[in-house]
Amino acid sequence: MVLLQGKRAIVTGGTRGLGFAIAKRFVENGASVTIFGTNEERAKLAVTSLLECKIDNAQNILYECVDVSSTEQVKSEIGKYLEKENKIDILVNCAGITRDKLFMKMQESDWDQVIDTNLKSVYNLTSAVIRTMMKARTGKIINISSVIGLTGNPGQVNYAASKLGMVGFTRSLAKEVGSRGICVNCIAPGFFKSDMTDALSDTQKEAILQKVPMGRLGDPKEIGDAALFLASDMANYITGQVLTVDGGMIS
Ligand SMILES: NC(=O)c1ccc[n+]([C@@H]2O[C@H](COP(=O)([O-])OP(=O)(O)OC[C@H]3O[C@@H](n4cnc5c(N)ncnc54)[C@H](OP(=O)(O)O)[C@@H]3O)[C@@H](O)[C@H]2O)c1
Repeated sequence: MVLLQGKRAIVTGGTRGLGFAIAKRFVENGASVTIFGTNEERAKLAVTSLLECKIDNAQNILYECVDVSSTEQVKSEIGKYLEKENKIDILVNCAGITRDKLFMKMQESDWDQVIDTNLKSVYNLTSAVIRTMMKARTGKIINISSVIGLTGNPGQVNYAASKLGMVGFTRSLAKEVGSRGICVNCIAPGFFKSDMTDALSDTQKEAILQKVPMGRLGDPKEIGDAALFLASDMANYITGQVLTVDGGMIS
């Protein structure tokens, strides 16, 4: 069964890692997908891989070079997108960074970069699409948070604050726009194989695995599947929720 035939989606951070896995599941299910990122070379590789997953000729797969923390850049790119497409069905806010440090050593710039990229971006993107979704009386917004936002983690005060901020944003907006048929949800991944977690030391990875009842890191495809479900008509009555996909970490 193809779940997103004819749907138009933007996936921020779709150039690699979890965002790429989400874009891939969307493309495999018939959606036209535009990925946002900042690294053009990586984006070209991502688009080439995504084109190989197309199930028919009707889909567009595009890349836009956008710094999601910049309100101006996002406004301008989404403006151009909506002028051309006239519609957006699905927004996935997945772009994110870490700048890990114990709080006593954390600089204002570490705080600002993480909050701007992970949380302000959600405001930037959502405010640029929400009127169009409201007029259409339909839409799916999926914010990629983290279990770290729910549990906290030493060295990640900035990251945890940004990720729990996404949860408050999600729950509040869901209450505001539910009557217009728009669903707003979060996915809170545990620990998944990606460039972000490859940067951890073996000792850190070992310590994480001890906390995962399923005893393994997640496969990015498993986040793709969760996002596909929330983006599809199968989740039309689910809004304001946080779906943890974490191998049982915070069960
Ligand atoms: N991996 C995990 O275990 C895990 C767990 C919980 C939550 N998450 C969350 O899942 C999301 C994806 O994580 P990941 O592991 O896939 O990370 P990743 O491999 O490091 O990829 C990060 C993505 O975000 C994009 N990005 C970063 N800064 C950007 C900016 N200013 N403007 C536009 N795009 C930007 C990157 O694109 P460019 O390189 O092109 O800029 C890249 O596509 C993040 O929000 C992360 O917090 C991940």
